[in-house]
Amino acid sequence: MKYYIVTYGCQMNVHESEKLASICEKMGYELAEKREDADLIVFNTCAIREGAEDRVFGNVGALKKLKKQRPDMIIAVCGCSTQKESTANYIMKTFPFVDIVIGTFNLPNFEHYVNAVKTGRQLELLSEGEIDEVQTYKRTSGENAWVNIMYGCNNFCTYCIVPYVRGREKSRNEENILNEIREVLAEGKYKKITLLGQNVNSYGKDLTPQVSFAKLMKDICALEGDFKLTFMTSHPKDLTDDVIEVIAKEEKILKEIHLPAQSGNNRILTLMNRRYTREKYLEIIDKIHTQIPDCKITSDFIVGFPTETEEEFMDTMKLVEEVKYDGIFAFMYSPREGTVASKMEGQIPQKIKQERVNKLLALEKKIQKEKK
Ligand code: SAH
Ligand code: SF4
Ligand code: F3S
Repeated sequence: MKYYIVTYGCQMNVHESEKLASICEKMGYELAEKREDADLIVFNTCAIREGAEDRVFGNVGALKKLKKQRPDMIIAVCGCSTQKESTANYIMKTFPFVDIVIGTFNLPNFEHYVNAVKTGRQLELLSEGEIDEVQTYKRTSGENAWVNIMYGCNNFCTYCIVPYVRGREKSRNEENILNEIREVLAEGKYKKITLLGQNVNSYGKDLTPQVSFAKLMKDICALEGDFKLTFMTSHPKDLTDDVIEVIAKEEKILKEIHLPAQSGNNRILTLMNRRYTREKYLEIIDKIHTQIPDCKITSDFIVGFPTETEEEFMDTMKLVEEVKYDGIFAFMYSPREGTVASKMEGQIPQKIKQERVNKLLALEKKIQKEKK
């Protein structure tokens, strides 16, 4: 019996697919080389932009013929997209040959759903549960080990679906994280630990007693072993001085920070509910440059947010020009059902979004060329 997992979306999903792989192997499945050879195919989906969802639908649809030839094959769709009831229902209706449709909250019970297929098709969306500390991972990222330090997000940036499909912020206990890293390091093959969370800077605020992200990193660095530590993602509103200090001081921490700005214009930042201004953001960048001179800084930007004018977009261009990032991702705003921004007046036509993203990417290319 063989399994195959198709993963979309961010590192969080990549890491969760490592958990799914481990569950599959415990059930006795082996990794298939390609999806056509598999008896169990899992799509771990992403809902962040429309494009990501469309790709899932296309790839799931393409399995119809295969499933007809091999009715025993089990097809599962899980992850962020299917945590949304509307999308889960759409998949059930449009692709009746899919056996399992579950969301992010059901993931720890994946084995149960596979076993239950024999008794009929499954659609079930659990509500948020406790953090699952029991599962193991089949790590797939070479010398890098992903380590989740928190789940969910409380920020509700108005464009973003993540808080709806991942639930509220929940930090793992520090000791559990340290133990996982001890085990990872003891295996001897990992040289890099990447801490994962939607907003790692708010790690530990929900724990009693509270633990700061800076302390967590310090404690990880104190673990024995020859390894590098890095993390993603940082929210500028929560990037405190003690975090910058720790990065500057600890040799084990890589000098790189992904610090998404999203926009360079204050009116748009307010509409996005990002809770910092362009000036505050630049102040943080300044602090980083001063305290960690060789620090690489990267960012994400969204262009064509509802009501964004050409002038306001130019503020983003100017910010990118000014900071001279070591790399940026630029996205066209994609309305996500259920979010505040999707209901705003003044949605920007696709053609303008495309023009703006092209301009921003051209500027990025120019900066990278100059930097070389
Ligand atoms: N938690 C991280 C980001 C996760 S999503 C953070 O807050 O930085 C990764 C990136 O996708 C975001 O930084 C944003 O630039 C982009 N993104 C999120 N929602 C989007 C949407 N509706 N349309 C376009 N881009 C979006
Ligand atoms: Fe989305 Fe904002 Fe949370 Fe990041 S911080 S996951 S962009 S809501
Ligand atoms: Fe990640 Fe996409 Fe979910 S970016 S958290 S997989 S919506």
